[in-house]
Amino acid sequence: MQTSIAKPNLPSRENTCQNMANKMMITQSMLLLRHTKSPKPTTKLWFPYHNQGLHLSRPLSSTRAASRSQQSRNSSTTTGHNHQQPAAKGRPVRDLRGKVAIVTGAGSQGDDIGNGRATSILLAEDGASVICVDKQFAPAKRTVSMIDDMGANPLPNVHHVPRRGNAIAIEADVTSERDCKRIVEKAISSFGRLDILVNVVGIIGAKGTAVDVDVSEWAKGLEINVTSMMLMARFAIPAMMRNERSDNQPVCGSIVNIGSVAGLRGGTPHLFYPTSKGAVVNMTRAMAAHHGPDGIRVNCVCPGMLFTPMMYGAGNMSSEKREARRKRSLLGTEGNAWDCASAIRFLAGDESRWITGAILTVDAGATAAVSLPSTN
Ligand SMILES: NC(=O)c1ccc[n+]([C@@H]2O[C@H](COP(=O)([O-])OP(=O)(O)OC[C@H]3O[C@@H](n4cnc5c(N)ncnc54)[C@H](O)[C@@H]3O)[C@@H](O)[C@H]2O)c1
Repeated sequence: MQTSIAKPNLPSRENTCQNMANKMMITQSMLLLRHTKSPKPTTKLWFPYHNQGLHLSRPLSSTRAASRSQQSRNSSTTTGHNHQQPAAKGRPVRDLRGKVAIVTGAGSQGDDIGNGRATSILLAEDGASVICVDKQFAPAKRTVSMIDDMGANPLPNVHHVPRRGNAIAIEADVTSERDCKRIVEKAISSFGRLDILVNVVGIIGAKGTAVDVDVSEWAKGLEINVTSMMLMARFAIPAMMRNERSDNQPVCGSIVNIGSVAGLRGGTPHLFYPTSKGAVVNMTRAMAAHHGPDGIRVNCVCPGMLFTPMMYGAGNMSSEKREARRKRSLLGTEGNAWDCASAIRFLAGDESRWITGAILTVDAGATAAVSLPSTN
């Protein structure tokens, strides 16, 4: 479109009219340009996935993040394609290589599999180095030898090649503040860092109701089931906070506490166990709120009636009782320590990086429904 067509030799009136016409044409052209949308790109642009998911409440380096995000956008617009596969970007992986974990209550009776032993084995299987803690050394050492054997003799039903991490046993009482400090120091001196804490230790504890429970047994039980988890976290959290953090990986530590479905409902015969496990459930949420901004995740696994040495060990599990426990769940199947440990492994690793303060029941649905008598 021609916008400058003034003819200097025209008579003045004619010249003025021509000037007005020119001005109108220029204004029209400007308005046209202002309202015309820029053409749509012919190639499809991928939104950069890694900027989508994780958002820091305390930005680590917003300038760095912004410039990286801009670079990503620039590379998309210049090439018309994002060469990083969207399926891989921002996707968490199940891999614990390079991570260091502490598992308390990692022993079990003989060669049996309790929750702490199963957890230690599964974490090591995914590559973590594991500190197996127990107040009795021999059972913890047995767990370590089971992990050591794993490379040579993979567990039955494990179809992939185990990525075995190292393991060491340590004898310690987690009700002792000094021992808890020593456990964390051992993790740092042996493996240089701490990423995961699994608080498994727990006992059934004092029997009776409020009317007749033994008060000193009650107080000792609270030390074992509740205070021990706080003491372990007291030393673990500062160690975890020394781990590197980045904009794409803002989590520097993961704590998993073992509660129980008994801590979610009443109906158990003795007062102590559901009270202490209920405390573990809400301690988990409170800890998650305190330490989330520092990149520490805290979650809780609440198992139902598993068939573990803790339950059958004293020889008091009749076949009728075992059957009744199995039937309590929606699935009508019996759970064991591996079921519990699998949930713990999920919450311990990066697959659950966006989960904190969660209470995960592992109970075949026992707590999901109320049992009402059939109307038939
Ligand atoms: N088994 C179940 O059905 C079930 C159900 C719900 C929750 N749980 C919880 O799972 C956890 C473990 O259960 P489990 O069946 O594997 O128990 P377990 O008795 O087989 O193992 C617990 C281990 O903790 C150790 N231990 C106890 N006190 C300790 C202390 N002060 N310091 C260090 N180590 C100590 C014991 O020596 C033992 O080796 C407990 O917290 C329990 O409440 C179990």
